Amino acid sequence: MKGLILSGGKGTRLRPITHTAAKQLVPVANKPILFYAIEAMKEAGIEDIGIIIGETGAEVRAAVGDGSRWGVKITYLPQEAPLGLAHAVKISEEFMAGEPFVMYLGDNLIRGGIKSFVDEFNAKKPDAQILLAKVPNPNQFGVAVLENGKVVDLEEKPKQPKSDLALVGVYLFSQKIFPAVNAIQPSPRGELEITDAIQYLIDQGQQVLPHVITGWWKDTGKLSDMLEANRIMLDDLESDVQGELVGDCQIQGRVVVAKGARLESCIVRGPAIIGEGCKLTNTFVGPYTAIDSNVTITHAEIEHSIILAGSSITDINGRIVDSLLGKNVEVTRGELKPKAYRLMLGDNSQFSIV
Ligand code: TTP
Repeated sequence: MKGLILSGGKGTRLRPITHTAAKQLVPVANKPILFYAIEAMKEAGIEDIGIIIGETGAEVRAAVGDGSRWGVKITYLPQEAPLGLAHAVKISEEFMAGEPFVMYLGDNLIRGGIKSFVDEFNAKKPDAQILLAKVPNPNQFGVAVLENGKVVDLEEKPKQPKSDLALVGVYLFSQKIFPAVNAIQPSPRGELEITDAIQYLIDQGQQVLPHVITGWWKDTGKLSDMLEANRIMLDDLESDVQGELVGDCQIQGRVVVAKGARLESCIVRGPAIIGEGCKLTNTFVGPYTAIDSNVTITHAEIEHSIILAGSSITDINGRIVDSLLGKNVEVTRGELKPKAYRLMLGDNSQFSIV
């Protein structure tokens, strides 16, 4: 069995971060989301993985490399434009070379991995199998209708859902999916939809089986999803303080301070993770905060936030919460007169002040 991870797309819901960076590389608990997908595949025994890349392909290649770090082989499959999930399948046909495969949306996180899903597919050998989860708001998802243990209908964001089983971003396909993605037409939004391709299989009398998961999963398209994913992953954190603690530092609860980080007169209340090369001085770091490498924070308080590499926060009076800072962002209290807010925010930025 092979793997297909989708890491193209536009990422419009996470702008401005995605103006300059791939959303699949935004770190959750200091690890890019995409890496969790690679690890889940490896754990399920899948070692030959194709990654669909788009505009941010160079950055994805640089971060992932050839996969040897995980003991897998990565092949990059460039997609000329984000023309839909079924289009991504279409361009992977040659790479799959007749094997069944698992398709994983590179911005999804599934706690507990995909091994049981893959094992069930290998045992039952259906034409396709879809991963489903019960949700309280099925009208916001693709929804599957089941009958006698099989999927009989798929509905995209139905006004009156016939079930509460939403499609999670992982699918298992036999080679039967290729005639399906080649037969369907683009949807009104101009994309080749994977739900249309699976519906095509059902209509052709092929066997599409469900696999319902009970664990936590998240499609991390928006800021609130990223913060929730960060919370869930930090809940699994084990304490490991390797960095240098200077002066009166207090480490409370489960905290990781990476080697090469330096904390002086700080309080860190876990779960929280502080990456390599960070320099924190007179700072409070509250629960559910992930600070990536080489971040400098001086005289500030931060909680329930994700700070990307190379950023700096200096002399802030109020506490920073519920925030996502991109790479190399500077937040400072300026000495310049007149006293004023001076901002340089990218398109679609959000900024709220005390
Ligand atoms: P989406 O979240 O559906 O789309 P998007 O990434 O363009 O985001 P937004 O809605 O915020 O604009 O995509 C799911 C995953 O699949 C994501 O990791 C991007 C990837 N993808 C591709 O690789 N190729 C595609 O053609 C599409 C539509 C998505």
